[in-house]
Amino acid sequence: MSGGGTGIGRAIAVAFARAGEDVTIVGRRADVLAKVAAEFDTVTAVAADLSVPADVERVAATLDSVDVVVNNAGGAVYDGPLSTLEDQAAQWRAELDANVLTAALLTTALMPKLTRPGGRIVFMSSVAAVKGGGVYGAAKAALHGWAYALATRLGPDGITVNVVAPGYVADTEFFGERMSPEFHESRVRQTLVGRGGVPDDIAAAVTYLAAPDAGYITGQVIHVNGGSALGR
Ligand SMILES: NC(=O)c1ccc[n+]([C@@H]2O[C@H](COP(=O)([O-])OP(=O)(O)OC[C@H]3O[C@@H](n4cnc5c(N)ncnc54)[C@H](OP(=O)(O)O)[C@@H]3O)[C@@H](O)[C@H]2O)c1
Repeated sequence: MSGGGTGIGRAIAVAFARAGEDVTIVGRRADVLAKVAAEFDTVTAVAADLSVPADVERVAATLDSVDVVVNNAGGAVYDGPLSTLEDQAAQWRAELDANVLTAALLTTALMPKLTRPGGRIVFMSSVAAVKGGGVYGAAKAALHGWAYALATRLGPDGITVNVVAPGYVADTEFFGERMSPEFHESRVRQTLVGRGGVPDDIAAAVTYLAAPDAGYITGQVIHVNGGSALGR
């Protein structure tokens, strides 16, 4: 799975590891990954930039077979200037690289190794994909279309393909310096359940989709957002 060293990805990796599964976690920072791998015998860390094809090939070469691909890496990554068209292009490239290319390359590289039947692919989107969230939201929305196409292509092989779209989730590196008590409270007010999400909320949805008895769920977007966006 991608981005298993921090935040939501860490919670997903821990959930699978606690269930006794072998988990490979991938991110760019080896030291961050190593801390998670040190906690569990069944977690293997591979440092790689998943927007770089050669890195993804190196990751795929470490795996003989794969039951579940969790494409969790990503984020709203661009914080450069936006005054020129070149700047705007840089923003689009950065968001698409971080959120779409990472998922597309890893999924494509691992596709031949997926268990047939029974394999699972999960993409991590965002409420921003359906509520409007600038370039980041547009990049996440691109994953929905690709997930539908893959679900169609891989359904006959017994592989399901789904998207999890979190709303606000605290205890991650996602918001960086934007996080403050006031920011947290403003996000909590957008929910119907009166609290912010935690990484385990998202891990629960991912492990559910990955389970053998979720084989009749494919081509879906599962929203986990405390009611901050209704019924899409
Ligand atoms: N937190 C929220 O409120 C929220 C809401 C909706 C959706 N999401 C989505 O949930 C996912 C997880 O985010 P998070 O909230 O847990 O934030 P996070 O703590 O920043 O996690 C993102 C992870 O992705 C990894 N990553 C980023 N780019 C990568 C690349 N090119 N290659 C390999 N790994 C890469 C990062 O590790 P390295 O930096 O070490 O590479 C990091 O571990 C993201 O896709 C995010 O867009 C989050």
